[in-house]
Amino acid sequence: MHCEDTKDPEATWNESWRALEKAYAEGRVMSIGVSNFNVTLLDEVTSFSSIRPHVVQNWAEPGHVDDDVRMWCFRNDAVYQPYASVRNLHTMSEEMAQSLATIAQAKKKSTHATALRFFLQTGAAIIPRSSIEEHLRENIDIFNMEELTADEMKTLGWHLDLEGVEEVEEDHDGDEEGEEVEEEEGEEL
Ligand SMILES: NC(=O)c1ccc[n+]([C@@H]2O[C@H](COP(=O)([O-])OP(=O)(O)OC[C@H]3O[C@@H](n4cnc5c(N)ncnc54)[C@H](OP(=O)(O)O)[C@@H]3O)[C@@H](O)[C@H]2O)c1
Repeated sequence: MHCEDTKDPEATWNESWRALEKAYAEGRVMSIGVSNFNVTLLDEVTSFSSIRPHVVQNWAEPGHVDDDVRMWCFRNDAVYQPYASVRNLHTMSEEMAQSLATIAQAKKKSTHATALRFFLQTGAAIIPRSSIEEHLRENIDIFNMEELTADEMKTLGWHLDLEGVEEVEEDHDGDEEGEEVEEEEGEEL
């Protein structure tokens, strides 16, 4: 569910979320998620719904890793999916561009591949877009790329300390306010 400004011409986004929950409960989709949601909106979803978002797709790039939402995802067992993670590498701050170029040079990879590898190592589900075969191959090859060190990760903006971070206990997939959403027994989702 895409949220630009939380307005919808025909309904509220809360109602759209309810429709997604229904589709999920009926087994018509395997997972449901939101896009362009901050922590306030994410907390709002979980406050009225029985299923918390499985995926959050937000803008992120080296130097802007969306810390608060990342932490929310870790605590709520949601997949974080960054978009535009390599689209604007040419307009980043000079300092960040230089840091990325230095790390890329050390790894003998392009800045695009290095940025993608960075996000991969944060645990994000990356979705780079390309129409060039060579770029597609390069992007797939980041799974074989040399790991970025902890210092390199910090340089590119990864400062979250996940030590001791606990998942939210509450079972949002359960029954809330009498609106039970059933999953079939043994069903793999
Ligand atoms: N939820 C939202 O609000 C939202 C907003 C925007 C985008 N998205 C989604 O996010 C996904 C990613 O798209 P994006 O537009 O954000 O862009 P992106 O993947 O961050 O960047 C795409 C740009 O990077 C270039 N590129 C990719 N790999 C490269 C490589 N190895 N070397 C050099 N250049 C490379 C591509 O050019 P070439 O084609 O020349 O390789 C293209 O210009 C898409 O699925 C899109 O639909 C979602």
